[in-house]
Amino acid sequence: MRIAVVGQGYVGVTGAVALAQQGHRVIGIEQDAARLRSLTAGRAPVFEPGLQEELSRALGTGNLRFAPDVVAAHAEAPFDLVMITVGTPAGPAGEADLRQVAAVLRDVVTLRPDPCVVLKSTVPPGTSDGLLDAHPELRDRYAYNPEFLNQGSALEDWTAPSRVVVGVRSRRPLPLLRRLYEGVTCPWVVTTPGSAEMTKYASNAFLAMKISFANEIARLCSGPELDIDHVMRGVGCDPRIGHAFLQPGLGFGDSCLPKDTAALARWAADRALPTPLLDAAIAVNAAQPRLVPELLHQELGSALRDAVIAVLGVRYEPWSDDLRAAPSRAVVPRLLAEAGLVRVWDPATPPELITRLFPGAVPVPDLPGAVRGAHAAVILTEWPETVEADWPVLATELAAPRVVVDGKNCLTPARLAGLPVVYRCIGGRPLAPPTGPKGPGEPGEPTAQPEEAR
Ligand SMILES: NC(=O)c1ccc[n+]([C@@H]2O[C@H](COP(=O)([O-])OP(=O)(O)OC[C@H]3O[C@@H](n4cnc5c(N)ncnc54)[C@H](O)[C@@H]3O)[C@@H](O)[C@H]2O)c1
Repeated sequence: MRIAVVGQGYVGVTGAVALAQQGHRVIGIEQDAARLRSLTAGRAPVFEPGLQEELSRALGTGNLRFAPDVVAAHAEAPFDLVMITVGTPAGPAGEADLRQVAAVLRDVVTLRPDPCVVLKSTVPPGTSDGLLDAHPELRDRYAYNPEFLNQGSALEDWTAPSRVVVGVRSRRPLPLLRRLYEGVTCPWVVTTPGSAEMTKYASNAFLAMKISFANEIARLCSGPELDIDHVMRGVGCDPRIGHAFLQPGLGFGDSCLPKDTAALARWAADRALPTPLLDAAIAVNAAQPRLVPELLHQELGSALRDAVIAVLGVRYEPWSDDLRAAPSRAVVPRLLAEAGLVRVWDPATPPELITRLFPGAVPVPDLPGAVRGAHAAVILTEWPETVEADWPVLATELAAPRVVVDGKNCLTPARLAGLPVVYRCIGGRPLAPPTGPKGPGEPGEPTAQPEEAR
């Protein structure tokens, strides 16, 4: 098939590359000139593990190229299918900002001969119905097909999704959709466009609630005898619950959960529909970043005002360069307001970007340099460099009172046991595990995040 993928962000580039590898003739449409230049030169404009290599491979097949304008590209050689993957960021009141989607659709409805149109961007329920009511000629060639990929495993998730959800008014476009997912074996849910739109929001709302639930339980587990790792491991072993998204931390801060929960809450509020669970998940999340200054206050008291704080990592996850809603965006400004000096180390974020995002913070190129002489180290990203650092040495580099705030619960307590540091994390994690030999089924060391948890 000849396919246009309009919008070359995390979802669009992944999709364009994967579809070209499948053998389709794909044109990635991107309006941003710098991003288009990068793509045309064969450079992935976003970081995603494996994407650069797969992009080079896809370009090598001759099945993939990039262009700025879908109308002009269609006029050159018509597409069978136009897939829309533009952004739907949060508007000022939390609502989904649909301007990018609307602008693309204005062009797409004019294309002749008529391609099949597949909207993948996350949009509120009713968006497709509004479009189909305004353009009844699209009825037989339109599908809403939400994307569920995770950053960090985007290519894998695209090629082997857990489910395909398709919202249609007519079954006519389904054969083309089936060709998009050729070779994929997973359940299909074919439903109305509104239900498909709601499925995407409901999935993300549920994941957000799991994270906020884990964070709420972590607050209840702050005593020395309550080990949040063990509690969540025990909870997650129930197959009805599962380990995924039960990791306590500073709140959800990827590119989707914050904006999608806000958009769903706004959508419901506009219809006077109550969402107490969702509201609670959002409120717990909003409060999480405040834990860092709270913990520092508890340990440093008024000395925080003159203290040097080393922030270790600004990404939400090491494998994603999407900083749009990372907890660091809330934590670092608070530290800048309350501490004497804030140093920031992140091995993958350029110093200029750190300075732009956090004016007043001092970027430091190496981890020991950031920690040396600091009164507290605050871990915001689970970088392997941090987790595997020589903590006995780092502990001596810190200045008294040598506080380590682990916002990702990524340092195993055994690593810090016996070191002259004050260790604080999200929830309780006793530094002294039970003594005696381990029994069958017990992990070697308490792990906050079992393999199946991602
Ligand atoms: N990022 C994720 O992990 C993820 C996962 C699942 C679903 N989604 C959803 O998929 C959609 C896309 O997400 P994203 O993170 O890739 O967005 P993004 O903001 O990273 O990328 C969108 C791209 O579309 C381009 N664009 C906008 N209007 C255009 C136009 N008229 N013509 C050509 N290009 C245009 C922008 O320049 C940008 O490069 C969103 O609705 C998002 O909620 C994202």
